Amino acid sequence: AEPLRIALAGLGTVGAGVIRLLDENAALVGARAGRPLQIVAVSARDRAKDRGVDLSRYDWCDDMTAMAARDDVDIVVELVGGSDGPALTLARNTIAQGKGLVTANKAMIAHHGLALAEAAESAGVALKFEAAVAGGIPVVKGLREGAAANAIESVQGILNGTCNFILSTMEDSGADFADVLAQAQAHGYAEADPTFDIEGIDAAHKLAILSAIAFGARLDFAQVHAEGIARVRAADIARAKDLGFVIRLVGSADVEPAPGGGQRLLQRVRPCLVPDGHPLAHVDGPTNAVVAQGNFSGRLLFQGAGAGDGPTASAVVADLIDIARGEAGPAFSVPVGDLAPLEPADAGER
Ligand code: NDP
Ligand code: HSE
Repeated sequence: AEPLRIALAGLGTVGAGVIRLLDENAALVGARAGRPLQIVAVSARDRAKDRGVDLSRYDWCDDMTAMAARDDVDIVVELVGGSDGPALTLARNTIAQGKGLVTANKAMIAHHGLALAEAAESAGVALKFEAAVAGGIPVVKGLREGAAANAIESVQGILNGTCNFILSTMEDSGADFADVLAQAQAHGYAEADPTFDIEGIDAAHKLAILSAIAFGARLDFAQVHAEGIARVRAADIARAKDLGFVIRLVGSADVEPAPGGGQRLLQRVRPCLVPDGHPLAHVDGPTNAVVAQGNFSGRLLFQGAGAGDGPTASAVVADLIDIARGEAGPAFSVPVGDLAPLEPADAGER
């Protein structure tokens, strides 16, 4: 069978992880995809950097934004990051070239996901972003497809591995916030600018995307209230523990009756006191978890590694396998034009 020829932009934690996975699991992935997945071209900032993988097999592109125009590329994988800049230019160019895009970039999808999905629908190409939400957990697919028959009533989740690693490590060892953040960065969990993690912005990006999928609501990042963990002290964690709680950064999205009739969507990310018996209470380290309440399925729990090279690469390659099989589906649970403009909650109530 003809290979699916891939241009890979971004060779950091996740990009190098994708190369390792495609090398190590080539036979299994090819069998499941029905054809080989073959990287043909790569790009990043620094050509000389040692990334622990053999790049000599691929063409190096100095201008990543032009990769999509290559005749030998069928699909582009964007693992650069940033809501705008080269990642967005590459995404737009890819769709304009009539090629599919796989990305782990939640900032870009939270800000530009609707426009990109609309463009992809018009062009008849795939836009996939499983890795953008909760790393290796197949929660986008789980909610979009596995729970497709349900009205989802609420979604709650631990959506940032860095914050969860910081909070749970401080809880276990009483370690200092800055030291644990440095460890999270060394493991490759944190964003290039870790402010996005600790201020709750990264979790808010993911919550906005999950809400669109779970509720079929028009994605609107501006409606998500975000507070982070920068002001949580070791003493707060110890006091919470004495009272039978843990502190976790939780994103929640709830559909509720709107005061003027109809329904509204309340989306919040903030540090919460989680009681000992709750499924989110024992989620430690860089793990993420999502609890969704479906009207027929009941409570669904998705849990696994939310950050890091292997888990995130696993989600990226799963998207590529879907595309190779011709099973990509719409970017969200319904076409963009059918996403419901749920009324947002008033700013004061968020
Ligand atoms: P890294 O910072 O490790 O890697 C980013 C890559 O993009 C690097 O290869 C870098 O080049 C390249 N790059 C960055 N800016 C530019 C630019 N202006 N021009 C050209 N190349 C550029 O990031 P990650 O791999 O951690 O993350 C990649 C994406 O995946 C992000 O969107 C992130 O949010 C997302 N993500 C990350 C997860 C994780 O656990 N790390 C989990 C889920 C999603 P060079 O190496 O030469 O500097
Ligand atoms: N910085 C993110 C996190 C990476 O810590 O969760 C995964 O999206």
